[in-house]
Amino acid sequence: MGNILITGANGQLGCCLRDLSHGDERNRYFYTDVDELDITSLDQVEDYVSKHDIEVIINAAGYTAVDKAEQDEERCFQINAEATRNLAQVTKRHEIFLVHISTDYVFEGNLDVPHKPDDPINPQSVYGKSKAAGEQAILEADCHAVIIRTSWLYSEYGGNFVKTMLRLGREKEELRVVDDQIGGPTYAGDLAQLILTIMRQRDFIEGTKIYHFADQGAVSWCDFARQIMRNASLSCKVMPISTAEYGAAAPRPAFSVFDLSAVNQDFSFEIPHWRDSLQKCMQKLSNQ
Ligand SMILES: NC(=O)c1ccc[n+]([C@@H]2O[C@H](COP(=O)([O-])OP(=O)(O)OC[C@H]3O[C@@H](n4cnc5c(N)ncnc54)[C@H](OP(=O)(O)O)[C@@H]3O)[C@@H](O)[C@H]2O)c1
Repeated sequence: MGNILITGANGQLGCCLRDLSHGDERNRYFYTDVDELDITSLDQVEDYVSKHDIEVIINAAGYTAVDKAEQDEERCFQINAEATRNLAQVTKRHEIFLVHISTDYVFEGNLDVPHKPDDPINPQSVYGKSKAAGEQAILEADCHAVIIRTSWLYSEYGGNFVKTMLRLGREKEELRVVDDQIGGPTYAGDLAQLILTIMRQRDFIEGTKIYHFADQGAVSWCDFARQIMRNASLSCKVMPISTAEYGAAAPRPAFSVFDLSAVNQDFSFEIPHWRDSLQKCMQKLSNQ
């Protein structure tokens, strides 16, 4: 029996962790979001961990508004970098275990080979730089931790690309979607499952380890959107446009496919293909 703290528990990953952990009777889960525990406060984190005798922190909290972050650097760094430092320091002090989520945005993404966890990082956006600083804070704290970099997260919860495409696909006859960014869509339920697997096997992990996780396969945003329309039997046409034509505020990696071999080697975890997980998530959405 262990006491597990989940931060950012109202976000999409947090909600998937809630769903999956409900079946786990061996551990007790403490689900918190900013109202119960603001991770930017070191005192709050320290008090919460002490009071509830926490053994594992799963940090599902984050500043995730990638474009807004370009104008909101201070708040973005507070949540993604300084708050992560708080969690890492408390993890070290209490000799507990931390699972933290990072992103493909730490890479520039200008190569066309899958990124390995020890490839050099070179974040281009404020969000990417803040997440890289969060990773660095964990490495500097020298605590017992796993950092999982993931990409293109979606779920039945919160706002995400799949839900936006479904809404627009019902409203419009034609959509224009970027086709020169290739990456790995990740169903947050799959990531939540991996997190619980890693948490149960934490005694086999030494120091801090970085893993890459996305669902199997790679696709452009445009082809991902087309698959969403097909699954939902929507006739909306998806037309390709370039990143430059779309003109988002924050730069994004053009190629952010992950090498998943470390997860495959270290854990008995079957990584689903993105097409299968997309179908699973869309089924859940249609049952809501
Ligand atoms: N979404 C993606 O495509 C993607 C891709 C790669 C990696 N990631 C990473 O995956 C993780 C989970 O992402 P997600 O999409 O599940 O995020 P999300 O849906 O935006 O949820 C994040 C949660 O954290 C909360 N939060 C913000 N500031 C906080 C604070 N100071 N203390 C406690 N909680 C706070 C948010 O509350 P408010 O809503 O009230 O701010 C929200 O409930 C993040 O670390 C993210 O960087 C995401």
